Amino acid sequence: MAGSVLVTGGAGYIGSHACLALIEAGHPVVVLDNLCNSSPESLQRVGQLCGEEPLLVRGDIRDRACLDRIFAEHDIVAVMHFAGLKAVGESVEIPLEYYDNNVTGSLTLLAAMQAAGVNNLVFSSSATVYGDPATVPISEDFPLAPASPYGRTKMMVEQILTDWQCADGARNVALLRYFNPVGAHPSGRIGEDPRGMPNNLMPFVAQVAVGKRDRLFVFGDDYPTADGTGVRDYIHVMDLVEGHVLALQDIIAGPGLRVINLGTGRGVSVLDMVRAFEAASGRQIPYEVVQRRAGDIAACWADPGRAAQLLAWRASRSLEQMCIDSWRWQSDNPRGYG
Ligand code: NAD
Ligand code: UD1
Repeated sequence: MAGSVLVTGGAGYIGSHACLALIEAGHPVVVLDNLCNSSPESLQRVGQLCGEEPLLVRGDIRDRACLDRIFAEHDIVAVMHFAGLKAVGESVEIPLEYYDNNVTGSLTLLAAMQAAGVNNLVFSSSATVYGDPATVPISEDFPLAPASPYGRTKMMVEQILTDWQCADGARNVALLRYFNPVGAHPSGRIGEDPRGMPNNLMPFVAQVAVGKRDRLFVFGDDYPTADGTGVRDYIHVMDLVEGHVLALQDIIAGPGLRVINLGTGRGVSVLDMVRAFEAASGRQIPYEVVQRRAGDIAACWADPGRAAQLLAWRASRSLEQMCIDSWRWQSDNPRGYG
């Protein structure tokens, strides 16, 4: 594939790992990121790991002129679109910010792609679009019922992209629905660096292990699951980004729209995660069971069959590997990118 991939949000957690995977697969990248939730240090470290630092354009996906300049100055053949806001609780408090960043931002990006004749797009969607599923595992044809403004922005962008692809058969789109991405690059040089109090389980557990927080609050132990705590499908970020590279190669090979779950197909409870992290880190993770978190569901895991069939992709890294790599990142970088 000649030309570069524009990676929006490429300085962030998943985007930085995707840049590394793309460069290692022979695809040059240009990053567009406004750094509202990331540090340029992540891209410098990507450069140290693979010998080629991604070019960073500091700008916003809602800035049409900035996008037009990027498409005019670089030979962009495809876009991987990670940029957006992602905190469920915050999206309830400031919904307009979420609709503006995630929906208006995606519309502006698409209009610029269309003007530049760029037809290939891989989009970061989320299993949150399924809401509380009637059964598990979840396959792609399950009804969509997101329970938060954040989830609704993902569903809306999926619908916009479906219509955009349908309007012109030359367009190629992959909607990738991630389950719960965790872990870090095995070097420990890049990883997840949340600002303030982490919302998600794995970064919270890692901060307890490293001594930054004194205990984990387990949100409920009275769910209808084996040990009463919430069950999720945690997927190693390296497996996730390898799925992205394959999805990119797939859309470039053949037009159309693909909707694909990226998960392992395996459910892990909060207490399973605590035990696995204790084993990986050699540290105790004190915890206290508190009330359920509003909006949480009991259990959620993927049917990953379509990804296997369409992309010949399967998540291969174990829960142990996720914890080992997350611990290496956390203990080598106790203050994140600093
Ligand atoms: P992240 O916050 O680490 O990365 C997002 C990046 O986008 C950041 O670098 C941020 O600075 C940038 N950004 C945000 N708004 C922007 C804008 N308007 N213009 C330019 N840059 C902007 O998040 P992440 O975990 O890497 O998530 C990446 C994508 O994957 C997001 O779209 C998120 O909704 C989606 N997703 C994430 C998860 C998860 O658990 N991490 C799960 C499902 C889906
Ligand atoms: C959250 C988001 C979801 C997003 C997903 C992936 C919510 C309601 N949903 O889902 O939209 O797609 O992250 O990033 O925020 N837990 C604790 N203590 C903690 C943190 C979490 O017990 O401090 C439990 C939760 O109750 C849940 C599990 O750990 O059972 C996983 O939580 P989390 O990592 O926040 O992911 P999700 O709730 O699956």
